[in-house]
Amino acid sequence: MFLKALMQWIHVGSVVLMIGGFFFLRAVLLPIANRSSDPAALISSALRRFSHIVWTALLTVLISGLYNFISFFRTARADASVDPITSDYSLYIFVIGIKFFIVFLIFTLAIFLTFPYPVFEVYQKRPAPWLNLTIILGLIVIFLSAYLRRLG
Ligand code: HEM
Repeated sequence: MFLKALMQWIHVGSVVLMIGGFFFLRAVLLPIANRSSDPAALISSALRRFSHIVWTALLTVLISGLYNFISFFRTARADASVDPITSDYSLYIFVIGIKFFIVFLIFTLAIFLTFPYPVFEVYQKRPAPWLNLTIILGLIVIFLSAYLRRLG
């Protein structure tokens, strides 16, 4: 019970800080940076500072998400052994499959936006469209997760 609450808190807390951080960068910091004398320097140092938060959040989201997923399977298995007819989880599995696919895209975008590799400079020099995409995908995943909660 306590572990479940802790994992839910870690999952939601990490997601809030990560998606919220991307939103802050896009909606507040980028417009201000673009009016400054050296936008590129400001944007790259902001991304560099934010990168540690993102990498930590990616890890904690993954660990807590896997925990959630394993506990879903345990419950589903216990349900199915009691009543295999009514415990149909095919829609849940379908929706969580879509979630995992979008989460994979978000993780990839987050790495492109924050890893200090020269190959990713194209994304980091003009981050606005990629930040937009990350935020939109994040909001879609949050909706899918709210839906999963009702399906599970
Ligand atoms: C950008 C990444 C992610 C976002 C934005 C996200 C968002 C969320 C949110 C908002 C919830 C609802 C929590 C609640 O109702 O208390 C949730 C639940 C959940 N998440 Fe994630 N998540 C992400 C990544 C992951 C990953 C990587 C996994 C698995 C490895 C995962 C597995 C789950 C599971 C199994 C649940 C429980 C769903 C249920 O209530 O049945 N999530 N997620």
